[in-house]
Amino acid sequence: MLVADHISHTYATGVEALRDFSLRVPRGQFVTIVGPSGCGKSTLLRVLAGLIRPSAGEVWLDDERITQPSPRIGLMFQDAALLPWRTVEQNIRLPLELGDRAAIASRLGSLPESARDGQFAIDDLIQLVGLSGFEQAYPRELSGGMAQRVSLARALITRPPVLLLDEPFGALDAMTRESLTASVESILRTTRTTAVMVTHSITEAVFLADQIVVCSPRPGRVMGTVQVGLPRPRTWAMESWPEFGALVGRVRALLAHPGHPATS
Ligand SMILES: Nc1ncnc2c1ncn2[C@@H]1O[C@H](COP(=O)(O)OP(=O)(O)OP(=O)(O)O)[C@@H](O)[C@H]1O
Ligand SMILES: [Mg+2]
Repeated sequence: MLVADHISHTYATGVEALRDFSLRVPRGQFVTIVGPSGCGKSTLLRVLAGLIRPSAGEVWLDDERITQPSPRIGLMFQDAALLPWRTVEQNIRLPLELGDRAAIASRLGSLPESARDGQFAIDDLIQLVGLSGFEQAYPRELSGGMAQRVSLARALITRPPVLLLDEPFGALDAMTRESLTASVESILRTTRTTAVMVTHSITEAVFLADQIVVCSPRPGRVMGTVQVGLPRPRTWAMESWPEFGALVGRVRALLAHPGHPATS
């Protein structure tokens, strides 16, 4: 379970980004976060990742208090930020070279023998993200969607139990975005990864989530939480279901009436 407990954060400039923000993400759940631009969503993700210490409140991953980046928490941002001089496969391997080897080894130790071999894992992962045949390609040879697939594989190579995603598809065209959203849903379900994803797209938020958290304008507070009971695997055909439309409507309604944050 990933828990953000009464997080408030004010930057050194005096900007209050978050106020008393609490979040509980049970293991394996997918939580999406929507809210107006500038309301503190990226700040929240940085706090969850241990990249910034909040002014108040605590982040816990099971019994580990998160106060600095942890190998148990993977990150994916809007910009794929691939190293241009490394191939797809070499970019995906990067965290294995940089990371805390002991922590990675102990996690891989809990996997079956066959999955422990690094090469097997990377082939598997490349297939999972749909990049088979592009192992030796360089970033300049990839489309934006393919670059984000590399970024996703790189975030998953160390098998973090938690993945944080900050508008990972924000820079992509609508069709690529839909197909990647469906891939992410299927991949994170297959790997049983707990996920928190920030998105500007309400339909994307509904498509992916078990739970949608709607934020108020800055300082970000929780305006409300919407539970999503749609079956998995999700498909875009579900977008035309009345239930899907009703969920979109509930999120829109919460966004349209700021000023009455839910008590946490
Ligand atoms: N490093 C920083 N130093 C000072 N202020 C910051 C810093 N990062 C963000 N802020 C401010 O904190 C507030 C929240 O920013 P944040 O990036 O968390 O919002 P956001 O919800 O992710 O916005 P968007 O939807 O546009 O990505 C903004 O007013 C922003 O200007
Ligand atoms: Mg942001």
